[in-house]
Amino acid sequence: MRDRSGERDEDAQAFYGRWARLYDLLARRTPGIAALRARAADACRLERGDTVVEMGCGTGANLPYLAERVGPEGTVIGVDFTEPVLRRAQALTADYPHVQVVRGDATAPPLERCDAVLATFVTGMLEKPACAVDDWCGLVGPGGHVVLVNAASSEAWYAPPVNALFHAVVVLSTPPTTRLRYERDPRRLLDGRISSAHARLRERSAALAHETHTGGVVRLTGGRVR
Ligand SMILES: C[S@@+](CC[C@H](N)C(=O)[O-])C[C@H]1O[C@@H](n2cnc3c(N)ncnc32)[C@H](O)[C@@H]1O
Repeated sequence: MRDRSGERDEDAQAFYGRWARLYDLLARRTPGIAALRARAADACRLERGDTVVEMGCGTGANLPYLAERVGPEGTVIGVDFTEPVLRRAQALTADYPHVQVVRGDATAPPLERCDAVLATFVTGMLEKPACAVDDWCGLVGPGGHVVLVNAASSEAWYAPPVNALFHAVVVLSTPPTTRLRYERDPRRLLDGRISSAHARLRERSAALAHETHTGGVVRLTGGRVR
């Protein structure tokens, strides 16, 4: 019998599979998103020849930024568990032979070692986000970099209208059956998961970059692992 996390994963895959095309448009064309993806790739502190893994790469919007930074002598691996989004990621990166996309679980990635891990808008979907961050820190080892980008409720003084809009986006963009199983407030669950992931990365890192964007809703934390 499937457990609830298995069902949730299937719901997420069905949701992102169905909406892959629309998601791809949002992921690459939302105003300001290109600059944010460039900032996230910069925070990975990549050098030419490095190997970088993107967990939950979706339709691949970050992959070209990573590919440019590691150069053809490096390797970029995008991991996602949803087949239709991976097909789009593959098409998007067809001109970069050093980019591979693989189907796999970001919480048990089919990899042994890399120089950096990037995860954008993914940790809020994981049941145990802090454990996933621990695993990613283990994958890069001391001196490697882990970078998280997530949207969570803003803590800014002008937060109420920004957060109301954010709440609507969360409800609309959460796989529906998963949303029903969230207690009463999907935003609170998402905020908790994201806070715990970013806090764990802070604990595990010797040097940190932290920025907020989009009225404080988008948080970017990059850490050099101890
Ligand atoms: C909101 S999208 C973000 C995609 C991409 N990182 C971006 O910034 O556009 C979340 C993606 O994470 C994937 N995902 C969620 N949980 C996952 C898991 N445990 N393993 C692999 N992929 C996962 C989904 O399939 C989906 O493509």
